[in-house]
Amino acid sequence: MARFTLPRDLYHGKGALEQLKSLEGKKAMICVGGSSMQKFGFLDRAEQYLKEAGMEVEVFSGIESDPSVETVMKGAEAMLKFQPDWIIAMGGGSPIDAAKAMWIKYEYPDITFEEMCKVFGIPKLRRKAHFCAIPSTSGTATEVTAFSIITDYNKGIKYPIADFEITPDVAIVDPDLAETMPKKLVAHTGMDAMTHAIEAYVSTANCNYTDPLAIFAIRMIQSDLVDSYNGDMSKRAAMHDAQCLAGMAFSNALLGIVHSMAHKTGAAFADYGAHIIHGAANAMYLPKVIAFNAKDETAAKRYAVIADEMKLGGNSVEEKIRLLINYLRGMNDKLNIPHCIKNYGADSYPTENGFVPENVFLERLPEIAKNAIGDACTGSNPRQPSQEEMEKLLKCCYYDEEVDF
Ligand SMILES: NC(=O)c1ccc[n+]([C@@H]2O[C@H](COP(=O)([O-])OP(=O)(O)OC[C@H]3O[C@@H](n4cnc5c(N)ncnc54)[C@H](O)[C@@H]3O)[C@@H](O)[C@H]2O)c1
Ligand SMILES: [Zn+2]
Repeated sequence: MARFTLPRDLYHGKGALEQLKSLEGKKAMICVGGSSMQKFGFLDRAEQYLKEAGMEVEVFSGIESDPSVETVMKGAEAMLKFQPDWIIAMGGGSPIDAAKAMWIKYEYPDITFEEMCKVFGIPKLRRKAHFCAIPSTSGTATEVTAFSIITDYNKGIKYPIADFEITPDVAIVDPDLAETMPKKLVAHTGMDAMTHAIEAYVSTANCNYTDPLAIFAIRMIQSDLVDSYNGDMSKRAAMHDAQCLAGMAFSNALLGIVHSMAHKTGAAFADYGAHIIHGAANAMYLPKVIAFNAKDETAAKRYAVIADEMKLGGNSVEEKIRLLINYLRGMNDKLNIPHCIKNYGADSYPTENGFVPENVFLERLPEIAKNAIGDACTGSNPRQPSQEEMEKLLKCCYYDEEVDF
């Protein structure tokens, strides 16, 4: 038996934001990030639509990128004060993820962060509020997923909260919001979406319901991401849909160790002045993990299907996998994403001298590898890595060495 869960309603296409007018309720709290939604006028429009729907509106703003446990607790307090019956989360993956975690704490004020992180252990929500998510980046697909990623900065670790309880009730996928993304964000979030689709397709939890979504998303991202990055707004709109399809796939088929490694390296070197941005981490690690997972026969065949669907050519499974790896590395080049941590600059661009010093990486490697193995995404990876293998794999991701084990 398997479960397949998506939001009850998904509004998509230009102008879909206006559907906020159709929500029924008394009080809406809008959760947003830094300033982009305000700057580009989407926050004002959302407020206006909700008021037209007869709701009292309050805004919780300032949710940072890679949101912290503290921000979640602060937002939940604001919700407890205002008592919304709708939570409207708008922006990138960060504010939407934070709002999902705030929602849990709002409904269950005594729950601890540790309790929230119990995989598929969230108690029943919707006793106080329903949840509407409106993405402004084209990657995380958190508007349709059962996940929220919160960072514990004391530990330097990202924790996934995973439960279908936090799958939003309504998603509004309006490409207008994605038009204002800077190029770098298009690149990172786009490769995040590609990773979601590929990991979902080879996940041990893949099924007939998730495969078509994953494959179609892969083909769309192959056809549209680079053009979107170069400013083609019709492709930008297509990418907004593609990332959402990838999200529908991975929310139900789960992910793999590319994400485990990205979660556990993302904030691990924050004391050296930068994060390894989620999408960039995925883009660098994905080709390495494909080579590692391809030692599993079933996964290898599935990667070969992906290569076929992408029309990459090749006569054997091995050759098709090699072509897939090369194609993905070529996408990174076109999107100005480095191939390894050693060459990852503090500004996320390729550089000779990355911000993560070699000695610091090696010193922290055993702990990071252990944490990556323990990540919630590891269980559905087609090949289970040992501590030694995970360390070797992470080293290949640091030095851009070939994976031959
Ligand atoms: N919940 C999930 O299923 C899931 C999946 C993958 C990743 N994540 C998490 O999501 C987070 C990353 O989210 P993200 O990549 O969407 O980025 P983000 O939300 O962190 O936003 C990055 C920056 O882009 C700006 N921004 C957002 N939309 C914009 C727009 N349209 N125009 C201009 N600027 C804009 C934001 O203000 C912010 O400064 C990470 O914490 C990651 O771990 C969650
Ligand atoms: Zn991701």
